[in-house]
Amino acid sequence: MTQAPAPSKQPPLSPVDLGKLFDEAFDFVNPPEDQVEAAQEVVKEQTAAVDAGADSSGQLPLPAFTPPQVGMTVTSLATGNSYTIGRVIGEGSFGTVYQATDTWFNELAVKVLKPLGTYEDIQLAAAQEFDKLLKLRHTHVTHVVDAFEFQHTFYIVTERCAGPLSDLFTMEQLHGPVWVQPVARCLLQAVHFLHVAGYVHQDIHFGNCFMHFHKNEMSDDSRMTSMSFKLADLGIAKMFGEIDARNTVLNGNIAPPEFLDPDQFGLLDHRVDIYHCGLLFLQLYLGKEMAFTNQEILDGLPRQIAEQLPAPFGPALSKALRRHVAHRTQSAMEFWRDLTVKVNPLTAVAALPPSTDPPQTHG
Ligand SMILES: Nc1ncnc2c1ncn2[C@@H]1O[C@H](COP(=O)(O)OP(=O)(O)O)[C@@H](O)[C@H]1O
Ligand SMILES: [Mg+2]
Repeated sequence: MTQAPAPSKQPPLSPVDLGKLFDEAFDFVNPPEDQVEAAQEVVKEQTAAVDAGADSSGQLPLPAFTPPQVGMTVTSLATGNSYTIGRVIGEGSFGTVYQATDTWFNELAVKVLKPLGTYEDIQLAAAQEFDKLLKLRHTHVTHVVDAFEFQHTFYIVTERCAGPLSDLFTMEQLHGPVWVQPVARCLLQAVHFLHVAGYVHQDIHFGNCFMHFHKNEMSDDSRMTSMSFKLADLGIAKMFGEIDARNTVLNGNIAPPEFLDPDQFGLLDHRVDIYHCGLLFLQLYLGKEMAFTNQEILDGLPRQIAEQLPAPFGPALSKALRRHVAHRTQSAMEFWRDLTVKVNPLTAVAALPPSTDPPQTHG
């Protein structure tokens, strides 16, 4: 059985200054001085316009959250890049996401963090999410390009994907089994990469996994030429040592068994991502989004449904959906191996490594 990667020794993140992160991340960028000056001028003007809301006593208002307007152009002092904001393309618990384009005609997504908590809380959340995106750059993790504060509001700029995986369910003829392996190949690689780096995503669901169409530089035709899948939203991703059920807010995701009953099923750790990938691939295979009640999760219903599927999907998914963390698929790499194991066509049984789980318990 593949061993889970060893937890990273990195200390937990402390409050980080966005500017400092930028200096490190973009030390190769040295925008021409006149460009920086022009950008500074724009930022000064736009911030002054907001601060003009000072009351008659001349008191400046406390830093006020100012969401962007469609058509507005915001400039990052860190990179000198300007972003023209388009329509809203998504809404999560922590941010509103807008379409944007930049000087380079890149198609981007700009996440504007919602004013939840104090100004310092949001500043810290923005810095931490950006920091994780920078550290965890991977082909199958949405690529971060910029992050900055503008008019007391925090922006994180990433490549724009075609849409969340849940869009697949709007397809008229979604043949789920065809999608599972290609999606799993990309997402499990991203999950494996995160785990090796000592991080747990904790929030893998259809709204946080995207389809991505690659740009053909030699054609204006924006239709898909090739496609891959990306893991996104590292907002609540945590280091191995930091995670436990009490400090975890599961955002729009199905609570795994160990979250609901750690005494019975084990502690919350990186294998929560395996369970969530299991749920995602199960729904993809069946071609429909499913909701489970906490009781159904505690009763092991997802695993029971997965057991009905043919090999290699049934054995691979039901192993990933075991309630007991210790009996579950241990790593993303093991999950991928299980999904691609050669099936004997006569018995249609996948030769997975022997289960350590008692057969009757729906563990
Ligand atoms: N890079 C992107 N490309 C396309 N759509 C995106 C992108 N990032 C976010 N979205 C859309 O915005 C929604 C919310 O973004 P997300 O990062 O998950 O925010 P939150 O942290 O608030 O959950 C996503 O479910 C998706 O629909
Ligand atoms: Mg999200």
